[in-house]
Amino acid sequence: MTPEIGIFGGSGFYTFLTGAETVDVETAWGSAPVTVADVDGVGVAFLPRHGPRHELPPHRVNYRANVDAMRRLGVHTLVAPFAAGSLRPELRPGDFVVVDQLVDRTWGRADTFHDRFDDGPQHVSLADPYTPRVRRALLDAGAAAGATMHDGGTVVVVNGPRFSTRAESAWHRQAGWHVVNMTQYPEAALAREAGLDFGGIALVTDYDAGLDGEPDLPPVRQEAVLEVVRANVDRVRTLLFAAVADLARR
Ligand code: ADE
Repeated sequence: MTPEIGIFGGSGFYTFLTGAETVDVETAWGSAPVTVADVDGVGVAFLPRHGPRHELPPHRVNYRANVDAMRRLGVHTLVAPFAAGSLRPELRPGDFVVVDQLVDRTWGRADTFHDRFDDGPQHVSLADPYTPRVRRALLDAGAAAGATMHDGGTVVVVNGPRFSTRAESAWHRQAGWHVVNMTQYPEAALAREAGLDFGGIALVTDYDAGLDGEPDLPPVRQEAVLEVVRANVDRVRTLLFAAVADLARR
């Protein structure tokens, strides 16, 4: 069946669909291992962005192959769940933030399908990276799953794989941004170039390098991120299944 909805898996979230076969989708940018399955009558394609064994760090993810594979399979909507550090006390580990803006602080990543303008200039607008229809479906699905949801927020995307310094983290907070992550860019830009509706949902896993006025809060460690993801992975699945039903064009 032709999948309608594409879903990326992130840290600690490597499988989503059961009883389905994984196929390597060949693209001009490399191949991507995608699992396609029928979810209550809706075709869904799932792709763990870091690879099935988390072998690709954020700066080495083949974002172009991943997004192009989804486009080739025929999806119209791409949902990108991601683990994120919180920059504010009210965004707590275990909460979800359905972001509505993005700041790119990555560097050196292949972030366009248009390496040459052979067919004329190809500048897309990324003024609004996230599609309102997808955001609404994610918020409703989260509420139905009993999750603590936050409607809107800016994700600042850092290059990684290291976490931020205290000074960087304080700067990101003072700039007014909400959560920090390593993979939303260039996923959002490539989805726009590919003409796909796009939604990003952050699972807050930590307080990044700490919060103002809380000197005892330890800076984020990788183990803490994975622990929070592990504790929430069933809820993420439930939420995404509910969102799929809402996002299908039937
Ligand atoms: N992913 C999860 N937590 C993060 C953090 N604090 N910084 C960047 N990416 C993250």
